[in-house]
This record gives sequence, structure tokens and C-alpha cells, in this order.
Amino acid sequence: MADLSLAYLLLLTPFILLAVLFFIVRPCPVKIPIKNRHVFITGGSSGIGLALAHQAASAGARVSILARSQAKLEEAKRAVQLATGIDVATFAADVRDFDAVKRAVEAAGPIDVLVVNQGVFVPGELERLRLDEFRFMIDVNLIGSFNMIKAVLPAMKGRADKRPASIALMSSQAGQVGIYGYTAYSASKFGLRGLAEALQQEVIADNIHISLIFPPDTDTPGFEEETKRRPQLTNIIAESSGAMKTEVVAKKALDGIKSGSFIVPCSFEGLLLSIATAGMSPQRSYVMAFVEVVAIGWVRFAALFFQWNWYGLINKWHAQQK
Ligand SMILES: NC(=O)c1ccc[n+]([C@@H]2O[C@H](COP(=O)([O-])OP(=O)(O)OC[C@H]3O[C@@H](n4cnc5c(N)ncnc54)[C@H](OP(=O)(O)O)[C@@H]3O)[C@@H](O)[C@H]2O)c1
Repeated sequence: MADLSLAYLLLLTPFILLAVLFFIVRPCPVKIPIKNRHVFITGGSSGIGLALAHQAASAGARVSILARSQAKLEEAKRAVQLATGIDVATFAADVRDFDAVKRAVEAAGPIDVLVVNQGVFVPGELERLRLDEFRFMIDVNLIGSFNMIKAVLPAMKGRADKRPASIALMSSQAGQVGIYGYTAYSASKFGLRGLAEALQQEVIADNIHISLIFPPDTDTPGFEEETKRRPQLTNIIAESSGAMKTEVVAKKALDGIKSGSFIVPCSFEGLLLSIATAGMSPQRSYVMAFVEVVAIGWVRFAALFFQWNWYGLINKWHAQQK
């Protein structure tokens, strides 16, 4: 009899866990509509940002893009117009310059979905990176994101359309795990996580929802430039993953934003990495929360194998250099 009760209890445990998670996941699930809404994408003239502009325009959003080079913006505008028949608004500004960003945002009008996507990556070991290169990455990737959000938030909070709004931040898998050669880049992208977690608590009462997107290597003009400068060891460690197609990453990102997900992985490997690094981040989906609770031990086990492999590669490389 006691054995039977224990068997029932064991069988029921997953359902009890699911039921508990259904009630406790926070923030509550939400959908972010983008049709007929204003989607503002920084770094929208190239790579992932440009693919996002295409897809948001095709989905019926009013799209604005911001970047530094007016010529690249014009080219992007023409490309979206040619592919979708839709006009995007363009704004030339450097995200490091708060006043310029503020002027652009005021000219663009209230924003419903802000995608803070601009980013620069200069790989190199800390000892070889120049101080100005280190500062450049922190300024554009982290301070630039802070500037954008600070400029957009007042009008977004006061929007007449009270439907859910979104602020999405483009991080990177290098913002989930430190990789050789990315000390500065990883620092800037890890910083976005702290910013996003704290900000979500500050804006939840205004029905504003944060997404943090974690692309892997993606086949973009920026990535092409970066690979030319990558240290040999970074290439050896990153070799296994390969680069994803820009359109696929943009679609994963847009779907993640629309479903209000806080953490948005872009591949199966990225999903495992997100589980391994879930930590204290918010989770809206009770199903994903269930997967995290059940899988976390095994995923940690797999993560330790990755570390074992990477440190093996590093040791082997140093031995060959001697
Ligand atoms: N590609 C990858 O492998 C990969 C992987 C993980 C994460 N990511 C992240 O995804 C985002 C997009 O990357 P991507 O590969 O698509 O880059 P990309 O092709 O180099 O495009 C970068 C965009 O950001 C703009 N930008 C750069 N600095 C700026 C500044 N100071 N102010 C305003 N705009 C600026 C660029 O235009 P201007 O130069 O004209 O300003 C361009 O539109 C970045 O945040 C990156 O860190 C990329």
C-alpha cells in the first residue's frame, strides 16, 4: 500500500510542479502586437537590424531605423522599399551621443517597440586591445543602449495606445558565456543582462516588456569584418558552432519579442545555453520554467564538458606555440 502511494506521488510530481509553476512564473505571459505599431530599430541599416526592419515592415509595422552613416541608411531604406513596398523612416545619429539620440527619437514620434540592436565587436586578447578599442565597445554596446532607452522611455510610458510595449536588447551568446578574445565585447554584453533584469522591474507597471536576445555567430557584414581580426584561439573555440543566417536570427528575435519572452535564444544550442544560465532571470512561460527546473542539472553537466574541451584546446594550443 505504501509502495503504491509512493508510486502515485512520483507520477504526480511533474504535474504538481507544472501547476505550481503555472501560478508563480512572473512577469505574467504577454503578447506584443506589432501590426500598425511603431517599431524603432537601432543599427537597422545592416545585418540583423536590417533583416528585422524587413520582417517588421512585412508584418505591417511602421518602421524607423537609426545608424550613423546616412548613406547606409538610404541604401537600407531602398532595399526594404524594393522588397516590401514599404517606406521606413531613417535617422542618422551615434548612440553614444545622447542629445543626438534624443533629437532623433523626438522626430520619430512615440515608439511601441524599441529594438536596441546596434553593436560593435573588435576581438583581441585584453593585453593586445587598445584602451580606446575597449572603451569603444563599452560605449556603443552598453552606454549607447542606456542612452537609447533613456531617450525613448518617457514617451513610451506616456503612450496613448495602452497595449503592451517592448524594449528588446540585442546581446550575444558572448553575453552568456565568456569566450577567449572577447573580454571587452563580453563585458559590454553581460552588462546588458543586468540592465535588462533591473529595467524589467522598473517598467512592468507601465505594461512595457523587456526581451534580451542572444544570437550566436551570424552571417552579417559586421561578423565578416570581425572574423578577419579574430585571434586564432577564438576561431578554434568557436569553430564548432558555424554562423547562422541573418534572416533566421531576425525571425527568432522578432518572434521572441512578439511573445514577450525575456530571454530569447536563437538556436537549439542557444536554448541549452539559456537554460544553463537562467539564474535569477524572469520567466513568463510555465512550460519553459518546468524545462529549466528539470534540465538544469544535466545542462550544467554538459556545460562542464564544454569547459573541459575549451581548456583542453587552450592548453594544446599553448603547448604547440612553445
Ligand atoms: N553577427 C554576429 O555574429 C552577432 C552575434 C551575436 C550578437 N550580435 C549582435 O547583433 C547586433 C547586430 O550585429 P550585426 O552583426 O548585424 O552588425 P553589423 O552588420 O555590423 O551592423 C551594425 C549596425 O549598427 C550600426 N551602428 C554601429 N555603431 C553605431 C553607433 N555608434 N551608433 C548608431 N548605430 C551604430 C551600424 O551602422 P553605422 O556603422 O552606419 O553606424 C549598423 O547599422 C549587435 O549588437 C551585435 O553585437 C551579432
